[in-house]
Amino acid sequence: MLSPTLRTTLNIMSTIRTQMNLAAANRLSTVHRHLSTTSQVNKIEKLTVFGAGLMGAGIAQVGAQSGLKVILSDVTDKALENGLNIISKSLSRVAKKKSPDDIEGFTSNILKNIETTTDAAKAVQDSDLVIEAIIESIKVKRDLFGFLDEKAKAECIFASNTSSLSVKEIAESCSNDRQARFAGLHFFNPVPAMKLVEIIKTPQTSTETFEALKEVTLRMNKSPVSCNDTPGFIVNRLLVPYLLEAIRMVERGDATPEDIDTAMELGAGYPMGPFKLLDFVGLDTTSYIAQGWREKAQSGEISKELVEPIGLLDKLVKEGKLGRKSGQGFYEYDNKK
Ligand code: 3HC
Repeated sequence: MLSPTLRTTLNIMSTIRTQMNLAAANRLSTVHRHLSTTSQVNKIEKLTVFGAGLMGAGIAQVGAQSGLKVILSDVTDKALENGLNIISKSLSRVAKKKSPDDIEGFTSNILKNIETTTDAAKAVQDSDLVIEAIIESIKVKRDLFGFLDEKAKAECIFASNTSSLSVKEIAESCSNDRQARFAGLHFFNPVPAMKLVEIIKTPQTSTETFEALKEVTLRMNKSPVSCNDTPGFIVNRLLVPYLLEAIRMVERGDATPEDIDTAMELGAGYPMGPFKLLDFVGLDTTSYIAQGWREKAQSGEISKELVEPIGLLDKLVKEGKLGRKSGQGFYEYDNKK
């Protein structure tokens, strides 16, 4: 005969066991549900690129060259026209090497793979991969992705070409399932010529998403590398402090931009010295990245000394001397040529 106390204890233990089993079963079913919804990604055949500027146009071009069906989207027809011009010019350059006897045919064959639209919802309705290369504003990017999340297929992968913002913070504008299909895809300027793409994983990015992005970048004839969602990822984390230190050298009067460029090209084998590169990338872009990092320095994500404000850089940006695109930066350019 069991004592009443022992019977009560056994009853309590049995109830706890049942509840634990139920909780475990629930956990398992949540994991299963999560896996079945997050692991599925399609083979990428249709690419949508948002932003028809230099980077977006370059990404659309390499996508089209790799045989993907590309939709290039921007907010105005004028921006799209500008993007198509950038692509046509760049394709003629590629054609001169690859198909010198039929430059026109080569170019039009690839342009056939690119459609344009200002209708964002239409642009993504059938897409397997969306790459965003719009203005570097967390709010604008989050608004765009939040809107697209409702319009794109569940399996569609979202990627941002941001160079200065946290991919995770952008991805959080989307549902949990989409966050598993969200990553950074960072291309380099000029996109058709630079072989590297950084694939940035957030803690939510699924392995299937990463693998699909790796595969599609290889198809674009790029070399992908993997990086966590940290300020500057790999290249800019090393490159931007180097560029800023070069400006400080000029500010201190240690050497001229011309001599520093010659030194780094001939002494370190860089294709462009830091001032040619600063003008090429845009002084506003570099200044913007440094500014964003200054905020991150407060939380210790990056060291403060690396991104101390630089008077000379701020002055040039204020004067509109942004580099090649404005006709003047550290050097002068004849943009009418
Ligand atoms: N479209 C198509 N092809 C292009 C191109 C374009 N816009 N620009 C260059 N190319 C191709 C050329 O056709 C040539 O191809 P080939 O190897 O088959 O002959 C090749 O690139 C080299 O070009 P060129 O011979 O005309 O000129 P250079 O040898 O001087 O190279 C350069 C030009 C590739 C721009 C080289 O100077 C370089 O690598 N510079 C450094 C660029 C760099 O560091 N970019 C990264 C910037 S950081 C960034 O983008 C990150 C962002 O977040 C800030």
